[in-house]
Amino acid sequence: MPAQRKLFVTTALPYANGKFHIGHIMEYIQADIWVRFQRMQGHMVHFVGADDAHGAPIMIAAEKAGQTPPDFVAEIAAGRRQYLDGFHIQFDNWHSTHSAENTELAQDIFRHLKARGLVASRTIEQFYDPVKGMFLPDRYIKGECPSCHAKDQYGDACEVCSSVYSPTDLIEPYSTLTGARPELRSSEHFFFRLSDPQVVDFLKTWTQDKDADGSGRPRLQPEMARKAGEWFEAGMADWDISRDAPYFGIEIPDAPGKYFYVWLDAPIGYLASLKNHFDRGQARNHWDPASRTDAGFDDFMADPAVEQVHFIGKDIVYFHTLFWPAMLRFSGRKTPNQINVHGFITVSGEKMSKSRGTGIDPLKYLSLGMNPEWLRYYIAAKLNGKVEDVDFNPDDFVARVNADLIGKYVNIASRAVKFLEGGKLVSSHLEQFAPARLVDSVKDLYEAREYGKALREIMAAADTVNSYFDNAAPWRLAKEGGRVEAAEVCSVCIEMFKVLTACLKPVLPELAMHAEAFLKSPPLDWDNAAVPLGEGHQVGEYRHLMQRVDGKQIDALFEPPQEAPAPPAAAASVDPLPGGEAIAPTITIDDFAKLDLRIARIVDCAPVEGSRKLLRLNVDLGEGRTRNLFAGIASAYQPSELIGKLTVVVANLAPRKMKFGVSEGMVLAASHADEKSQPGIFILNPWPGAQPGMRIH
Ligand code: MSP
Ligand code: ZN
Repeated sequence: MPAQRKLFVTTALPYANGKFHIGHIMEYIQADIWVRFQRMQGHMVHFVGADDAHGAPIMIAAEKAGQTPPDFVAEIAAGRRQYLDGFHIQFDNWHSTHSAENTELAQDIFRHLKARGLVASRTIEQFYDPVKGMFLPDRYIKGECPSCHAKDQYGDACEVCSSVYSPTDLIEPYSTLTGARPELRSSEHFFFRLSDPQVVDFLKTWTQDKDADGSGRPRLQPEMARKAGEWFEAGMADWDISRDAPYFGIEIPDAPGKYFYVWLDAPIGYLASLKNHFDRGQARNHWDPASRTDAGFDDFMADPAVEQVHFIGKDIVYFHTLFWPAMLRFSGRKTPNQINVHGFITVSGEKMSKSRGTGIDPLKYLSLGMNPEWLRYYIAAKLNGKVEDVDFNPDDFVARVNADLIGKYVNIASRAVKFLEGGKLVSSHLEQFAPARLVDSVKDLYEAREYGKALREIMAAADTVNSYFDNAAPWRLAKEGGRVEAAEVCSVCIEMFKVLTACLKPVLPELAMHAEAFLKSPPLDWDNAAVPLGEGHQVGEYRHLMQRVDGKQIDALFEPPQEAPAPPAAAASVDPLPGGEAIAPTITIDDFAKLDLRIARIVDCAPVEGSRKLLRLNVDLGEGRTRNLFAGIASAYQPSELIGKLTVVVANLAPRKMKFGVSEGMVLAASHADEKSQPGIFILNPWPGAQPGMRIH
């Protein structure tokens, strides 16, 4: 039995201005599997998360929502639990970077950096919005491109000619918040001196060290260590870590009106959440008896045996492999032992966008009654230890869950249990399946986050068990008087089902719990995984362990959202909100100009097989070709009513891959927010004279 490891594990802290999307859930599933795997070995794990609450975008989003920033982020935080519980993600604590712990820790770390001479102050010139009374982050400045003179380009690069420049190069710059012309103003900023030779030397060693903690595990994946090497070649610049009021953030000590830039205090939120967890006395957590400790946060973090492990996505590597370890080291703290970087999840090969309706909505998945462990299984089957993107493909999802998980693994129990008399096991001769070797190999793969390979090995073992069952044909043996032999074959299969259950448990905790109940086994762990239940052990009654995915559920998952959230159960007669929903926040004329609405002729229209809501439309926007698009209007219109009619289409919406094909636009239609009490969907029809392709201004 290896010595007990003490692990402090985190996932990236999500920005508190939006709900979780499937990318977040994928990251949490990846980390949660690893954590459960460690706990199954009796290692101590503290697994924490938090909301990343600070920064200008959140401050602005709160203002738009008519809330104070703390209220705004608290409301987002209140919505987190249902996702985490829903997908069986077992964080020990969920906290916020907008907290007393984080303020204290961030200010302490800053003081240390300053005392070591690593904080410089410099006056910089920056755009200031005189109407809003604040300095503008680059993303809120637009203007005319200095190279190609395209209008409305962002402050850093032109989307038309791809030239790169700084916001001050823009012609006729304007603030996207107020439309005002920004003024250049100077302000004193603090910089973390990453270019200091002692910092550069430290980071070079830190990022390239192949066996830093003597465990044989590198801190960074090889491709990430290479990336860091490239960054050093390019040279390390000092990092601007301050922002001026008004800002939603943590105040910088002894510098009135100055706040930490959000990315300074965000990773410190990992420590803040852990500290909060300890201070609440919950470090003896209910999931994990092995984590019982009387140590406080400071003792725990001072323990050299503690391993700090971060799971993050590929877009935030710079912050975690350079800024974060430097902050920790030069404030006298321990640095991370592993930064585990994953790629992005795409849906049917398409990048997720934050605009509504794309990707997979995790809550919708749950509300359709889809089993969260299907998704855990599918994502695990696609993950490896490298920084590679994974794709959610609906057909592949159905095939893997139904054919592999249920067809191979669950199937063993349901077919073998039938020939055990009184549920009694009569044999435990598993030699031919080498269960101990399987378990060892699967363990190594989980440790290395090679979940896909682990599941392939487990399913290959399930295949051999099923073939053994088929060849031995216990149903025939039983019929021909060989009841004892039939029971022997089935005992071996049930014993192997138990081994496979242990192997799958980090991925499928709930299914494993039900299987344990059926097997009447003690809780399965890595010590007892390959140990047979033994002859004479009696298993319980078999009840089906998992439903198959129903194709209709997948269809429903990919149906575009039909309605705004229904207003609270009010009588349909009083409707204080026009159309059942409040008027959306005010936008500028520039916001409106982004929408390209066109008159379209519906050239063809047909029902969509497998969907009750959708119609497939072929529309002419005067482009010399027709476009294919899907609209959720089948309940309101017959295809024949629509063919030949003119209507209105959003022409510049990113094409969207749906289960049934690509949709190249969106038909506009009106409906009441409360579709139940006030049903009806109404598409638009222009006055006579309008021609396909005309833009609607
Ligand atoms: N707030 C920062 C992280 C601060 S950590 C101290 C942030 N937040 S985020 O909400 O944008 O992203 C949170 C995590 O989700 C990141 O690890 C990010 O890489 C991950 N993902 C965001 N989109 C993703 C996919 N499409 N697929 C997988 N993970 C993705 O960044
Ligand atoms: Zn340009």
